[in-house]
Amino acid sequence: MTTRTRILTGITTTGTPHLGNYAGAIRPAILASQDANADSFYFLADYHALIKCDDPQRIQRSRMEIAATWLAGGLDVNRVTFYRQSDIPEIPELTWLLTCVAAKGLLNRAHAYKASVDKNVEAGEDPDAGISMGLYSYPVLMAADILMFNAHKVPVGRDQIQHVEMARDIGQRFNHLFGNGKEFFTMPEALIEESVATLPGLDGRKMSKSYDNTIPLFTSAKDMKGAISRIVTDSRAPGEAKDPDNSHLFTLYQAFASKAQEEEFRADLLQGLGWGEAKNRLFQLLDGQLGEARERYHQLMSRPSDMEDLLLIGAKKARAVAAPFLAELREAVGLRSFVNQAAAPVAAKKKAAKAARFVSFREDDGSFRFRLLAADGEQLLLSRNFADGKAAGAVTKQLQSGDALDLRTEALGFSVWLDGAVVADSAEFADEASRDAAIEALRVALTPIED
Ligand code: TRP
Repeated sequence: MTTRTRILTGITTTGTPHLGNYAGAIRPAILASQDANADSFYFLADYHALIKCDDPQRIQRSRMEIAATWLAGGLDVNRVTFYRQSDIPEIPELTWLLTCVAAKGLLNRAHAYKASVDKNVEAGEDPDAGISMGLYSYPVLMAADILMFNAHKVPVGRDQIQHVEMARDIGQRFNHLFGNGKEFFTMPEALIEESVATLPGLDGRKMSKSYDNTIPLFTSAKDMKGAISRIVTDSRAPGEAKDPDNSHLFTLYQAFASKAQEEEFRADLLQGLGWGEAKNRLFQLLDGQLGEARERYHQLMSRPSDMEDLLLIGAKKARAVAAPFLAELREAVGLRSFVNQAAAPVAAKKKAAKAARFVSFREDDGSFRFRLLAADGEQLLLSRNFADGKAAGAVTKQLQSGDALDLRTEALGFSVWLDGAVVADSAEFADEASRDAAIEALRVALTPIED
């Protein structure tokens, strides 16, 4: 299997990104995605958005704004798998499989649900008043997001740590019930970036939409200027020394400045720089750093169909991972084809395994290859070329070892990977359904016989 770190995080699409989201989540995530040893999966958690918001316009606007923000911020969609949760039908399907193993008692303890219950009780209402099953099951959907892609690291805010722990809990339970010794799901870890700034808002409290104290990120220079002018400061006049360490205007500046810029700003404040001028300097800094990205943002927003295309490509990449994995999970819980599975599964596997065979042959150039033929003679795989018969033999042996197959779909075909290289390819199929059926047949053919 792969040793690369899989990083995955979702962004709930209910709002318009502000400066705090950018410094606290977007900027570090984009940086992390540039690490050559990481595979990043970033997605718009729009199914999650439906839990909190029943305004279709707002959902739609926010999905576009958040997509445009991440793209304008420099997310490289060629490196990263960037998709909309709602474009991946395997996610709700996995959610159901997980719902069936998640303990209700576990979900009773979820902070978000408990907080709503407490509020109701305090108000003398029925404890579950106004609480949807969506809110209640929210952690299971999030577990499916994470487990579907076997993420190792999940960068989140502190309020989400419990949800990542629940994902481990639910995943472990599934592994235990259906794995037969195999760990289907990797145990994810929450990643809390200690060094990342929590930005103060206009009034000095944490910048947050719910406090109405945000500075918009990309909407317009004018709006940004307007917001900056409303940053609360003390009443010291120009010429009087200011205390940078007790100024959230300074904290905001710091989050975007180089060390040298920061020191200069600090010295100037100590020497009596007026607040009006200080705000102007903050605007100049932000405008300098974000101006180009703002341009890109507006371009993207004015061409929604380009964004649609990018996200559909992202969905395809994500589904190439999700679909074969879900097929395996369906198999594990007993949602199996009637065709390949007789009532007694062991006997059926035996037959399939006996019937499938490897046939090796030599190419004119002296290299060795093999085919894997199904019971009916259909070719399941054609290998790549190997220098000698021994190398080819080692691969066929490995394929029959019962270790998890690393299958990767590519358009209407798929390939088999071992140790970071393709060793064999399927044929091209007429459609995805026949391709997936062939994958199914391959898995059955290669399942070792258990006596
Ligand atoms: N619940 C997360 C939040 O509100 C968003 C989210 C949904 C998420 N699915 C996820 C985060 C999976 C990380 C992994 O912030």
